[in-house]
Amino acid sequence: MSDLVLMEVHRSVAVLTLNRPDKLNALSYALVDRLMHLLDMIEDDAALRAVILTGAGRAFSAGADIKEFSESVRQGPDVAVRAFVRRGQALTARMEAFPKPIIAAVNGIAFGGGCEITEAVHLAVASETAVFAKPEIAIGIPPTFGGTQRLSRLAGRKRALEHLLTGDTFSAQRACELGVVNRVVPPDELLPAAFDLAGRILRHSPLTASRIIAAVTRGLNASIAEGLAIESEQFARMVPTHDVREALDAWIGRRKPEYRGC
Ligand code: COA
Repeated sequence: MSDLVLMEVHRSVAVLTLNRPDKLNALSYALVDRLMHLLDMIEDDAALRAVILTGAGRAFSAGADIKEFSESVRQGPDVAVRAFVRRGQALTARMEAFPKPIIAAVNGIAFGGGCEITEAVHLAVASETAVFAKPEIAIGIPPTFGGTQRLSRLAGRKRALEHLLTGDTFSAQRACELGVVNRVVPPDELLPAAFDLAGRILRHSPLTASRIIAAVTRGLNASIAEGLAIESEQFARMVPTHDVREALDAWIGRRKPEYRGC
């Protein structure tokens, strides 16, 4: 079980690698549970400040494990929703609201749940060789890990519906145009590009980064008035911290800030 997701630490960045390459990193229940466990550990570890998520082999992830969840489907809606849908939605919601930046490094096939994870995380870099799809319609189900909700928010309703209703594959470049990934790079530049992005965030206060993630994530699903209230609340929570005073003093004193994350 512990091999299903590998974790390496490079300075303050945790690199998580989905590791079922012979099954194209299909998201079995055990793999999802392992990923959730590792996210809990990373959240608790103040020394870890960002996450890069990638896949072993030729896939990022080919989505939910069809053989496994079809067994749940056979047991009826209650079991199928509890075991499959809730688990997958909990994973993508956890990633979306995770207080430390998560960057997907999409190395290959990102179908179904693999695409939904990419939609949910904060930032994504894709290899030119990555291929995306929302193929659930071909197996008779709507997407279940948030894929009917986040793509339309990222890309707009009609562009999302085209991919959701055709199930056709699309390129990394198209994923970039849809706002699912931030940039597309040659395969050998994938991890360096993800680390570069992480490094440019890590120059700043981890506390401020977490407040920005919270404001954007919560605000997206609120009215503008509620969103502005959330923004104000996140700002107010920063005011008494060392990091905000340090950042302001450093700017005024023309020196580099030294953050404590408190
Ligand atoms: N769930 C379970 N197993 C999967 C899987 C998935 N989502 N995707 C791939 N696999 C397994 C295959 O069963 C195969 O295992 P096997 O060698 O034991 O038979 C292995 O991974 C390799 O996949 P294969 O289909 O042989 O590779 P391919 O290059 O011919 O095709 C895909 C790649 C991605 C087109 C194809 O695997 C596919 O359509 N996968 C399902 C994608 C999907 O519908 N995802 C959404 C699920 S909700």
